[in-house]
Amino acid sequence: MPKFRERSTQPEWQCIPHPFTGYTAEERLIIYNGVNEMGKRMKGEINEMGKVAIYPGSFDPLTYGHIDIVERALDIFDNVILAIAHDAEKKSLFTVEERIKMAESIFKDTPRVIVDSFKGLLVNYVEKTNARVLLRGLRATSDFEYEFHMASMNRSLSPYLDTLFMMTSKDYFFVSSRTIKEVARLGGTVEGLVPDLVARRLKEKFKLPVGKKRLIGWED
Ligand code: PNS
Repeated sequence: MPKFRERSTQPEWQCIPHPFTGYTAEERLIIYNGVNEMGKRMKGEINEMGKVAIYPGSFDPLTYGHIDIVERALDIFDNVILAIAHDAEKKSLFTVEERIKMAESIFKDTPRVIVDSFKGLLVNYVEKTNARVLLRGLRATSDFEYEFHMASMNRSLSPYLDTLFMMTSKDYFFVSSRTIKEVARLGGTVEGLVPDLVARRLKEKFKLPVGKKRLIGWED
């Protein structure tokens, strides 16, 4: 047991060792502020991939709003990991495998974008990647409260982790995966708002013959 664990004055929850590193939140802060190898690793200073940002989300489906954030982040970071969440709580249109395939195809000529997926807590995934920056797009003030709570919770779970917010470009501030799905489901055009591949996959999804199980609730 590291010797600083004995003089903990933190609330009990902060003294629970992290499942992967074995360090408590308080210890991780001490390491983070220190100059040892673990501290540097945790600060993202030792990372074969250079400066990495994790861009987590459902991406169900990927829109030009997301792609705009990734492209702008590549000016700041060496690599961006697009981390697609396996989120059992949300009913998704595309399976995680379908979302990964689409994203890999869309970013096939951009090797600095790595498409990955994660299950469970985001902070646990981030810890394994050695990154310390989460990237999220903000469209309007209505996004803020949800994002603020999520960033605060993630920071509380992992004190060396920061969330960087980028404002969505003006061309896409009204674009969300949810509205894209709704428009596509009702036969509207989503061209120009999502890559052609996504537009095609949306059309395929909503053209399922009557009688087959629909992936989202669609009354015939
Ligand atoms: O694109 P979304 O749906 O807004 O992305 C939300 C996502 C997937 C980033 C968020 O729900 C998430 O991180 N889920 C993983 C579970 C987790 O870590 N929850 C605690 C954060 S409050």
